[in-house]
Amino acid sequence: MTESIEKHYGTAGIVSRIVQALEEAGLDRSSIDADSLSGADEFHIGGREGTEHVATALELRESDYLLDVGCGIGGPARYFAQSSGAAVTGIDLTPEFIEAALELTDLVGMAQMVDFKIGSATDIPFLDETFDAVAMLHVGMNVEDKEQMMKELARVCRPHGKVVIYDVTIATESDLPYPMPWSTTSEHSFPEAVEKYEEAAADAGLRHLYNSDHHDLAMRFFHEAPAAPSPVSLGHLMGPRMLEMRDNAARAVEQGLIRPVMMVFESS
Ligand SMILES: C[S@@+](CC[C@H](N)C(=O)[O-])C[C@H]1O[C@@H](n2cnc3c(N)ncnc32)[C@H](O)[C@@H]1O
Repeated sequence: MTESIEKHYGTAGIVSRIVQALEEAGLDRSSIDADSLSGADEFHIGGREGTEHVATALELRESDYLLDVGCGIGGPARYFAQSSGAAVTGIDLTPEFIEAALELTDLVGMAQMVDFKIGSATDIPFLDETFDAVAMLHVGMNVEDKEQMMKELARVCRPHGKVVIYDVTIATESDLPYPMPWSTTSEHSFPEAVEKYEEAAADAGLRHLYNSDHHDLAMRFFHEAPAAPSPVSLGHLMGPRMLEMRDNAARAVEQGLIRPVMMVFESS
């Protein structure tokens, strides 16, 4: 399973592709900041706007320590740190993503606040109650054992800390078109209904606070040109196959098969 996830996401040369595209757009290496990476490093429906919804729900303070589970190449982690002053650690299964996350964070001068290491959502490499809050964006679709995932998110969060999950959820039982952004085939794809997350969270001792459904954001994300187009895109992260994945995800949203939902819990 781990191998198939790494194979789906990991490619060589992620940082060079992104930096080269930014340089071709006229930025020199020393003027690249965290915001200029945004088109390529926020790998979830809604991009920056989706990250902002999660940041609002997290309510981070400067003294907080946040874990971002399945952090990708670190766009959300850098945004959470930059917007709140909190320290952030990201973990991810894909070694190429962790390497890129570390290199990009260094490049934009944020290595003091944001760190990354390889780790799994179902076996988080930290002690109990290490973090003040836990975020997870568009990762659960790769995790079959939602119960174990929720237990781990709850375990590493301090009592009364927020656990915020923003995932693609199943809205109606129907076959999805593949490749999807999170999986090339249906074999290693485990999107679930919101109720399944809520049950697993309750079993893990998490208190459910609220959900917010971001179908409208998804429709805008897939169908409207951004006000300020970025020189980098998820194509620089995932390569040319991103186009077909994006089209399939857009179609599944339009047909009401999937919905991006943010679920907010509190650790007990
Ligand atoms: C769609 S990307 C989202 C990345 C990031 N959260 C973001 O929003 O930019 C899904 C990420 O989850 C990671 N992932 C998948 N299964 C995982 C697991 N069991 N534990 C940790 N990371 C996982 C993948 O390697 C990938 O980086």
